[in-house]
Formats: sequence, C-alpha cells, structure tokens
Amino acid sequence: MKVLVATEKPFSTKAVDGIRRAIEDAGHTFALLEKYTDSAQLRQAAADAEALIVRSDIVDKSLFDAAPKLKIVVRAGAGYDNIDLQAATEAGVVVENTPGQNSNAVAELVIGMAIMAARNKYSGTTGFEISGKRLGLQAFGQVSRHVAAIAKGFGMEISTIDPYCPAEAMTAAGVHPASSLEALYESNDIVSIHIPATPQTVGSIGRDLISRMPKGAILINTARKEVVNESELAEVLEMRPDLKYFADVKPGNAAELSERFADRVFFTPKKSGAQTAEANLNAGIAAANQIVAFFRDGTDRFRVN
Ligand code: 3PG
Repeated sequence: MKVLVATEKPFSTKAVDGIRRAIEDAGHTFALLEKYTDSAQLRQAAADAEALIVRSDIVDKSLFDAAPKLKIVVRAGAGYDNIDLQAATEAGVVVENTPGQNSNAVAELVIGMAIMAARNKYSGTTGFEISGKRLGLQAFGQVSRHVAAIAKGFGMEISTIDPYCPAEAMTAAGVHPASSLEALYESNDIVSIHIPATPQTVGSIGRDLISRMPKGAILINTARKEVVNESELAEVLEMRPDLKYFADVKPGNAAELSERFADRVFFTPKKSGAQTAEANLNAGIAAANQIVAFFRDGTDRFRVN
C-alpha cells in the first residue's frame, strides 16, 4: 500500500524518519509531500495513494475524487475540522485522528502565552505573576487537562466548563466546575479556549462573553480562530483597553488588530502549538501505527466518521 505523508507544515526530520520506518517495516511504500503551495500538488501526489497522513491540510471532496484508491486518512493531531467527513464517508474512506499525542506541546504554549501576556510582551513595563490567579478553561479535553496540571504547579486556581465531561472528573483533577460559560468568563483572570470548530461553536465567542471578563483579563486561543467572532472581538478590545487577546490561531483581522491594539494582542506567525519535536514524533508515529494496524486487521479505534 502507498502511504503518503502530506504536510504543508512539515514534521521534524526525526519524525518523518520514524514514520517512514514504521510504514516500510510493515511492508508498505512511503511517499512524502512537504511545504506544498497548491492543493493541485496534493491531489497529484495522492492520486495513487491508499493512505494519507496530514496535519491541518485541507482534505475535501476534490481530493477524494482525485485519489480513488484512498482507504484511510489519519489527521496527525487532534482537530479534524480540515477534513470533509461527509465526503470521506461518501468516498468510503475512514478518517482517524491521534488524540492526545500533541496535547502537552499545545498546553505548554498556553502557559507561555499566559506569562507573555501577563508580562506585557516582555516590554519592561510592570506586569503580573500568574501564581494565585484564576484560570478558566473552556472545555476540558486533553489539552486542557495538561494546561491544568501545569497551571497547578504555578499555584493557579483553575475552573472549567465542558458539557461532555462529568463534574467528578473535573474535581478529581483538582479543577472547579464552573456554573455556566458566562460565569467562566466573568470570574477568571485568564481564559483559555479549547473547543473544536463545529457548526455549533463557530463565532460563538464574541461580545457577550468577552466583555464579561474582569479588569485586566487575558483571553488565549490555541484552538481554532473560527470559534471567535473577530469583528466583535475588535469591538470589545476597543471598548475595554484593559483586555488582551493572545492567539496561536491568527484571526482573519490580525493585521487590523495588531495595528489598533499593538500592546494587547499577539499572534504566532504560523500555528505553533503542536510544533515541537516531541509532538511531531508522537503524533506522526501514532498516525503511521494506526495506518499499519488498519491495513493489518481493520483496526479503527480512532475513527471519527
Ligand atoms: C491539532 O488540532 O492537533 C492542533 O491544532 C495542531 O495542528 P497542526 O498539526 O496543524 O500544527
């Protein structure tokens, strides 16, 4: 079977070598497409592939049409909003993700951003310490749980809200269940967003929630840019000169926000949460092993469609 690794944002060399080894040791053929600039290159490379490993790369109907032999796509990472699941199912293609494999990397970036914001982007002006401050986690999945574990070491007081997580699991992790989403935004010095982009969540964080944040609060987004209503965010930042927005998922209006609120916003030049040697290796090898297992005996434990 031909397994194509197609990553516009490449994995580390060590991760690529590990993926290649796992694929070839199982008797499959390995192919690599990195830093491509046009979706036509992806369609061409995938034309005779039976399996595909991607990151945030767009996998849509046109790709399935161009790759008739494709049987499985593994998103080496958590969020799979870049993959058209309906088109995959219609094409008879299994889609999987690799949950948890890059979570610690993203969590470390959240804490890094919290400190960077609290210290006014290291400008030399007086900032604050995150120790003893209140941290609200919107959703309590794998990244959030890592953030909570690290934040506890800083002596932060942590709360969360997640309709899919029982309150007992939160308290067992030393995290207070928030009574409502509004309460989470109202009662935390730092709020970190960890919801996926779905039709229900897109644009759901806007004026109402952000303007509830207490004086001097910081909103951190390492999830997906689409979940924030960007024009309402700009409005609230204008109305509230005390608030900050730091994101690893650059908003569509990043240039405008940076120009208007230079000291209070920060965006990574390219999504960097999962861009560590460790996360590349964990997610990449997990993806390769999942494909090997799928072709071996149909194992599809991490199937999402
Ligand atoms: C994920 O959903 O796993 C993260 O957003 C990482 O995405 P990336 O692999 O494109 O860096």
